[in-house]
Amino acid sequence: VCVAARKIKMSLESFSTDLAATPFSLYLQSTDWIIPTVQTIHILSIAVVISAVLMVHLHTLDIVMRTQPDAAIAKRFIPWLWVALVVLLLTGSLLVTAEPGRSLTNSVFQLKMALVIAASVLTLLYQQPLRANPDFWRKNGGRRLSAISISVVSLAVWVCIVFAGRWIAYNIGV
Ligand code: HEM
Repeated sequence: VCVAARKIKMSLESFSTDLAATPFSLYLQSTDWIIPTVQTIHILSIAVVISAVLMVHLHTLDIVMRTQPDAAIAKRFIPWLWVALVVLLLTGSLLVTAEPGRSLTNSVFQLKMALVIAASVLTLLYQQPLRANPDFWRKNGGRRLSAISISVVSLAVWVCIVFAGRWIAYNIGV
């Protein structure tokens, strides 16, 4: 396992070096306004994702908009989450391309990517059943408990993603 992990680390390091030497990466590195602009779009998209997440999951926990059905809230807010996530993926990829050595080999960045996948799976798990059955998560006690669990875990995972995003800058976990 240790040998395999070292091999992956080495190939990530050489991939980072190659990527940083590509004309596109060099262009990003040498054009002053691009990275701050991309970072700003990344941060605005984080605001959209977190707003949607709060609406959906605080509603499931009966904290906001209690008179609205789950399906209506999901239909209204989850599409925003997916659109913003695509923007995050695009802007995040540009940030990686500009400084691959800072992110790809950083274990906090790797953790962040794993958490983004986990949060996306949880969102799909919550969203899918509501399409066919708008009352799915409130049909019985077991489902209610599942929905509450998904919401609590999702909120925690999204918060960890934001922490990880900020922590990458300090090379913690390299
Ligand atoms: C989906 C793919 C994503 C990729 C590839 C990505 C990649 C990155 C990269 C490379 C950075 C710059 C880190 C640095 O060098 O300091 C960054 C910053 C950050 N990301 Fe992401 N990210 C993604 C999604 C997300 C999501 C979903 C969130 C949270 C909801 C998020 C939150 C953050 C935060 C808070 C920062 C710090 C921003 C700053 O202080 O300027 N990212 N991201």
